[in-house]
Amino acid sequence: MHPLEILEFPDPRLRTVASPVKNITDEIVKFTERLLFTMYDATGIGLAATQVNFHQRIIAIDISETKNKPLILINPIITESAGEIESNEGCLSVPGFYEPVKRFSEIKLEAIGANGESFSFEASELLGICIQHEIDHLDGKLFIDYLSKTKRQLIRKKLKKTNANRPGSK
Ligand code: NI
Repeated sequence: MHPLEILEFPDPRLRTVASPVKNITDEIVKFTERLLFTMYDATGIGLAATQVNFHQRIIAIDISETKNKPLILINPIITESAGEIESNEGCLSVPGFYEPVKRFSEIKLEAIGANGESFSFEASELLGICIQHEIDHLDGKLFIDYLSKTKRQLIRKKLKKTNANRPGSK
């Protein structure tokens, strides 16, 4: 299996709002496997379909240290939220930057698993933060949108420079 290409800020395709998955077809199941593979390959703890230019509501997560507890969420919806927690976030689409972002400290959500079954659960701490970060991606939102405009522009400039220096890049 080959990893999928991960889009990087300021790629405008990251701003696409993803559509709900209508049917869990074999293609969708295969995609969830590739999404997980790409996430592990990039050593991320979460990856949204949007980040690999596939605009349906699917996210892959694994916050375990052993990297063997994959979680696929299809059409995830936050049904309840409470509290506030701030932590440094990073993103595979914004490589090299870690900035503090405030999130709900507890969320309740509903989603469909890769097996096609709906389930609901509660998440807090790192898992809760990660889910909120990934759902944002499905809405075309990035964690740097929570930062000041000045900071975001600085990140944009630095990333452009890095990409320009990359061999073979356009
Ligand atoms: Ni991200």
